[in-house]
This record gives sequence, structure tokens and C-alpha cells, in this order.
Amino acid sequence: MKAKILVTGATGQLGQTIKEFYASDSSYKILFASKADLDISDTAAVQNLFDQHQFEYCINCAAYTNVEQSEDRPELAFKVNAEAVKNLAGICEKNNAVLIHVSTDYVFDGENKAPYKEIDAPNPINTYGKSKLQGEQFIQSSSTKYFIVRTSWLYSSYGHNFLKTIVNKIQNNESLNITASQIGTPTSCSTLAQFIFKLIDSRTPNFGIYHFSDKGQTTWYHFALQICKSFNDYNCDSIQAINSFKSKALRPKYSILDNSKRLRVLQEQPSWEECVDKTVTQLISAPQS
Ligand SMILES: NC(=O)c1ccc[n+]([C@@H]2O[C@H](COP(=O)([O-])OP(=O)(O)OC[C@H]3O[C@@H](n4cnc5c(N)ncnc54)[C@H](OP(=O)(O)O)[C@@H]3O)[C@@H](O)[C@H]2O)c1
Repeated sequence: MKAKILVTGATGQLGQTIKEFYASDSSYKILFASKADLDISDTAAVQNLFDQHQFEYCINCAAYTNVEQSEDRPELAFKVNAEAVKNLAGICEKNNAVLIHVSTDYVFDGENKAPYKEIDAPNPINTYGKSKLQGEQFIQSSSTKYFIVRTSWLYSSYGHNFLKTIVNKIQNNESLNITASQIGTPTSCSTLAQFIFKLIDSRTPNFGIYHFSDKGQTTWYHFALQICKSFNDYNCDSIQAINSFKSKALRPKYSILDNSKRLRVLQEQPSWEECVDKTVTQLISAPQS
């Protein structure tokens, strides 16, 4: 039987990636709801949609993801990333649907010396991270069946992300100063989408928090250098490492996620370099909006 799935925030980069790979897969019946179709903070609208469709899964790709602006607009960050998630969890619980919620490495403070495990204590250092953590806590205190998938440094050929920004700047032959002061793992929306659907397909009853990233670790500077390798007519020496990072929001200086738990669900873990090369090649041959 086809799994009936709701994808919220469907025009974000993860939502669009899921659409690209799974919309026409006959194993699933997926309703893709953009923010214009469904504001997740509108409880009545969410309930209404669940009344019309008997969803078995809700993949919540909707979020307020602007880390910098969250410092100026904390009420909006908490409304979307926490309050709306609480409503979504309540409605999933009432409708016996599984909530698959995407969260972030930014729930951690970055002081660890080893990869963060699911059981490590979160301690967010910026408003975005605090709002995402509160969303997680609301889900955990509900009785809904849930998977919280924490991921890091997401990119795709859709929407706005670091990889696309660097590709644009390289194509415009700009010199770049990029911070080498934070360590994390770039993660492709494609591999994340694959993991989410593996959770669905497995019908595993092992609900809870999962850490998910591509393999390896790097800095934003080395991430940019990897992107550069796909461009023959740009001198990668024009990309300089800097140690500062001017921003209102504090960022964890180390946010590697331990993937041991998720490897029990999906064994494949391609290297972050391999995934970056693939997306850059795809972008060069067929640029997306
Ligand atoms: N991007 C990263 O580096 C990163 C890293 C770790 C975790 N994550 C998490 O991964 C998930 C997916 O991120 P992403 O990069 O795909 O984000 P994204 O591209 O910013 O997409 C988020 C989508 O949610 C929509 N949205 C905002 N408020 C909404 C509301 N009230 N109701 C319904 N939709 C709403 C946005 O619409 P508008 O654009 O029109 O506002 C956008 O289409 C998020 O939970 C994020 O916190 C992201």
C-alpha cells in the first residue's frame, strides 16, 4: 500500500529535493504543501488538511532558517520553529501520523572535542538554535510517534545555500574571504531525503532523535575550495582563509554529528566531497532557481 505523506515547506531546498526524487515514485502518495498552501502556524488549516487526507507521515521541511535574522526577529523564529511544531506534533498525535521533523547541529554549543551523539546535552548559542531546540522539546513532550533528524550545513541545487552562493561568486570571478574558524559537515539534501525515505520504508518502530550528515568534516573555507575544484577557469588561490566571521548570531565552532545510530538504518554514507562535486556538476549543467 502507498504511504500517504504530507511534506510541509515544500518550496524550501529540502522540500524541492524530496519532490525531485520522490514525487513520481509510485510507492508513495505525497502532498507537497508550500508556505502559501499551508502555514504550519495556522493550527486550523493544518487540522483541516489532516481531516481531508489521512496522512501516515508528515515530513516537516518548514522552518524559519535565517540564522542572522533570527537574532532580530526571535518571535518569528520561535513561532515557526517551536510553536508551530508543537501544533504539528499535536495534530500528528491526534491523527496517528508519524512526524518526521528536521532539526539542526546548531542545537549544540560547539564546545565538544568529539562528534555529537544524540544523547549529548544540547546548549544552543544563538536564537535560531534555541528556537529549533524548543521545537524538538515540544515534540518530545507530546505522545506522537516522531523522528527528529538533526542535520548540518545543508545544500542543494535549489533555493539559497552556501554552495550556490560560492558557485555564483566563482562564475562572476570574484575573490573570496571565507572563514576557517568553524568545523562541520556539509550535507546534501539528496542524501538527507534518501535517509528520510529509508526511515519510512523501514517501518522501524525505533522512533527518536537521529543525527544525519554526509561523511567527514571540514571548514567553510575548505568547502569553498572543494566547490572551486570543478571550475577550470577560476584561480582557487583567489579564495583566502580568514579566522574571523562577522555575524550577529554566534555559531558553534565545532558541530560534527556522530552518525553511528543512523548508520544502522542507512549504511551508505558518501563523503561530503563526493556529494558536493555531484551537486556542483549538476548546477553547472542545469542551473536551478
Ligand atoms: N539550511 C541548512 O543549512 C540547515 C542545516 C541544518 C538543519 N536545517 C533544517 O533543515 C530543514 C530544511 O531546511 P531548508 O534548508 O530546506 O530550509 P529552507 O530552504 O529555508 O526552507 C524552509 C521552507 O519553510 C517555509 N516556511 C517558513 N515559514 C513557514 C510557515 N510558517 N509555514 C510553512 N512553511 C514555512 C519557507 O518558506 P519562505 O522561504 O517563503 O519563508 C521555506 O519554503 C529546516 O528544518 C532547517 O531548520 C537546515
